[in-house]
Amino acid sequence: MNDKQLVSQALAAVLDNALSIDDISNLLETPKKSEMGDLAFPAFSLAKTLRKAPQMIAADIAEKISSDGFEKVVATGPYVNFFLDKSATATAVLSEILSEGTAYATLEQTGENVAIDMSSPNIAKPFSIGHLRSTVIGDALAKIYQKIGYNPVKINHLGDWGKQFGMLIVAYKKYGNEAAIRQNPISELLKLYVQINAEAADDPTVDIEARDWFLKLENGDAEALALWQWFRDESLVEFDRIYTELGVEFDSMNGEAFYNDKMDEIIDILSEKGLLTESEGATVVELEGFENPALIKKSDGATLYITRDLAAALYRKRTYKFAKSLYVVGQEQSGHFKQLKAVLKKMDYDWSDDIYHVPFGLVTKEGKKLSTRKGNVILLEPTLHEAVKRAQAQIDAKNPDLPNKGAVAHAVGVGAIKFYDLKNERLNGYDFNLEEMVSFEGETGPYVQYAHARIQSILRKADFQPDAVVGKTLALTDDESWEIIKLLQAFPDIIARAARTFEPSAIAKYAINLAQAFNKYYAHTRILDENAEKDARLALAYATGIVLKESLRLLGVDAPEEM
Ligand code: ARG
Repeated sequence: MNDKQLVSQALAAVLDNALSIDDISNLLETPKKSEMGDLAFPAFSLAKTLRKAPQMIAADIAEKISSDGFEKVVATGPYVNFFLDKSATATAVLSEILSEGTAYATLEQTGENVAIDMSSPNIAKPFSIGHLRSTVIGDALAKIYQKIGYNPVKINHLGDWGKQFGMLIVAYKKYGNEAAIRQNPISELLKLYVQINAEAADDPTVDIEARDWFLKLENGDAEALALWQWFRDESLVEFDRIYTELGVEFDSMNGEAFYNDKMDEIIDILSEKGLLTESEGATVVELEGFENPALIKKSDGATLYITRDLAAALYRKRTYKFAKSLYVVGQEQSGHFKQLKAVLKKMDYDWSDDIYHVPFGLVTKEGKKLSTRKGNVILLEPTLHEAVKRAQAQIDAKNPDLPNKGAVAHAVGVGAIKFYDLKNERLNGYDFNLEEMVSFEGETGPYVQYAHARIQSILRKADFQPDAVVGKTLALTDDESWEIIKLLQAFPDIIARAARTFEPSAIAKYAINLAQAFNKYYAHTRILDENAEKDARLALAYATGIVLKESLRLLGVDAPEEM
């Protein structure tokens, strides 16, 4: 039982059904100062029902309540303040983590699926920092949902279709060099793409040719398809290298092209339901409250991004029977996802309510927007390698004899980039500063990893065996331990909040707090001293290590045993 449950039950027992347990639990507050106890109940919430002054209600409750499990229960003005029994709480929390290990806070399987549209880079274009954010946030959400009992389905909705492929084919036929593309696919294809777009700005025939090629592609023309397939394969080789580096895998690589033969059905349903109208030759769905209608088919018959997303949404519902369907995509696409949901709603699919756009903000570099054209770019692969190199340099300085230095440096360097991304609330963008990310000081991944590794080294020195202390009283009552115990106890709530709000940042911030609380404890306490509390102190260190490691795992970050 956690602290909120304990307090809610004690309150319910004296409130005579004036409030339900859930209501009580929702009303409980955490006092700003620890002198005011661990949890507080605001008695003014009952003033109307009981027709009494809140101060009197608080005093009544404090008098009647059973103090079992509490150090004390006191009324302070209109609040009832609960002070948990520290040694009982410490024993309960530590024993639970000791016996469950990293399964602590794992919930039972619900059997329900959560579809997560994530990463989704565009073929023949570089993998951007936006795609990195989508990959890292999506992967963390998958792990968080799995922890609370769902089965995540990670879908890479590759941008492998659309008029840009018409442009690319035109460019390739004019200027393409097969060998150069085989050497350096994405940068060569990007060059072609940039060149042809510049040309199209002055020469309208380029655009017409591109549209023709895209239509050929949509109609299955062999030459167009072969070129498309080749561009796609070459790009995927590069993307796969990045995914391997990041340690991220997918359950489905069905990109936009996968839905080519599934869009007719969408158009049929829309038309049967009388939702299609003509507008300037194009086929659209009018949407109330939107500035623009949803464009389903262009005047030349070519389909669009949203048409493919409609087909994808229906396919996912049928295939995965999802309880929720998430789209981890930059906030600049909010309009698109609002339209997508609105069209599905008009098609009478109530499950459109289970679709969530999970937007995120922009990354800047030295305070400036990234722009391929202006040369302000972050190239992902070299950046990952640089992060690992910097991690390696710090490890060389701190711990030159460390075994597996390369693997640890990789975990630290790549973990640093992921952690920095995830500690920011999604919608807040951030400035990409590698030096800060990889630092062992401050609110960083390496800082948390280091706290974890320090704990493992203490446990090794003490030859700590969790089984040997399970069942013992693990009473710790000093302030520094108490702060850690309360954090450990809060872990399940933090995970639930991260899942509900689609915010891995809740877990990253929590991991920073826990690492800081442990470092404070470590500075104050001689953990290895031989005395009566030694077992409890080691149990505290062990439990903190477990929860730090599990927090990092949920963020897709490894926790080396030594660093
Ligand atoms: N490929 C798109 C882009 O890079 C993102 C796709 C997001 N997913 C989706 N189902 N629309 O902008």
